[in-house]
Amino acid sequence: MLNRSIAACFAAASLVALPVQASEVEVLHWWTSGGEAKSVASLKSSLQKRGVSWQDFAVAGGGGENAMTVLKSRAVSGNPPTAAQIKGPDIQEWGELGFLASIDDVAKKNNWDGVLPGVVSDVMKYQGKYVAAPVNVHRVNWLWANPEVFRKAGASIPTTWADFMVQAKKIQDAGYIALAHGGQAWQDNTVFEAVVLGVGGAEYYKKAFVELDMKALNSSTTDEVFKVFGELRQFIDANAPGRDWNVATSMVINGEAAMQIMGDWAKGEFAVAGKNAGTDFVCVAAPGTSDGFTFNVDSFAFFQQSDVNKQSAQKAMAEEILGTNFQEVFNLNKGSIPARLGMARAKFDTCAHDSMNAFVSTAQSGGLVPSFAHGMAVPGAVAGAITDVATNYFNSDTSPADGKAQLVAAIQAAM
Ligand code: BGC
Repeated sequence: MLNRSIAACFAAASLVALPVQASEVEVLHWWTSGGEAKSVASLKSSLQKRGVSWQDFAVAGGGGENAMTVLKSRAVSGNPPTAAQIKGPDIQEWGELGFLASIDDVAKKNNWDGVLPGVVSDVMKYQGKYVAAPVNVHRVNWLWANPEVFRKAGASIPTTWADFMVQAKKIQDAGYIALAHGGQAWQDNTVFEAVVLGVGGAEYYKKAFVELDMKALNSSTTDEVFKVFGELRQFIDANAPGRDWNVATSMVINGEAAMQIMGDWAKGEFAVAGKNAGTDFVCVAAPGTSDGFTFNVDSFAFFQQSDVNKQSAQKAMAEEILGTNFQEVFNLNKGSIPARLGMARAKFDTCAHDSMNAFVSTAQSGGLVPSFAHGMAVPGAVAGAITDVATNYFNSDTSPADGKAQLVAAIQAAM
């Protein structure tokens, strides 16, 4: 997928970058919402303290699709940034194309193999050497709720999908938007992923959406997944199409809507708005997923540089990212939990504590699964096929049986 799209970009590559100075890193990312921008600012200032200046290369667009398109153009024009936010199997694809620089000496010096969980460190390596540094672990299967709206509607926070439909109806009848949602493909897919885990459980999730097992994909569980997913259409408002995820979060913050299903980067928006977990807003696992954890690790991959000063700026950035101070400050702003193990918990809120506990317990129980909606589970072509089916289904009146047939066909074609 990446190979093909990079080849396609060769002809079109036209972006020219500004020259990067020696002790400077030019960093591509897609963190432009309130909470995200605060998180980037903490990375920028940590690096400045090390004498490394920051050239910002932000490409807006939740989920990062736009940023990845721009990155491909820059890379094929022979001018990649110093570092770029790249995740999951994409890191391997960039490694295979020969773009990435090893930062293994930094990793060895700082014992990354010892301080990172295996599910995280495995993804950061290409051919056994670190080429990327993880900043966090996001849990994607969250439901964010405004307790005041629930009180006013006489509704209770749902823990199963069946109950979700009952409570959402009460909220709607009381005059509120039940589910704040942004109608963008990646957000549709984020909700779809929560339904897959909640309806099917972790074993089905892994078989169908990680191993791409045709028997699991063709099973009646997939019909049930599409049925539940389709039922959610009635609970979003008519203005959802095109809406950014953080605008949807703000609808929960200001009491216009009761709930949002979104990864815990949403918590960064509650934090920026001065809201407290447990009182102003409530975080619970998305319906049916309390014993599951869809993980999404943000990481920066480093692009090969010929200039030794730029190489050392990259290494300073890699070292800073795994430092305990940075891991704490960044994740307090971002809504995620540190990628690094053994961090002090005191400054983190109850949602982060829940996430930290669930990360450990689901790793033991088998409920820890990579997020397919956020580029952690399957190659880009398959991820794209799943996204297309999920968004087409959600934005039409396709039947569950047809949704399943389209999913199976699209995955088969992309494999
Ligand atoms: C990233 C998050 C980001 C979110 C919204 C996810 O794919 O992992 O860091 O906040 O997209 O843009």
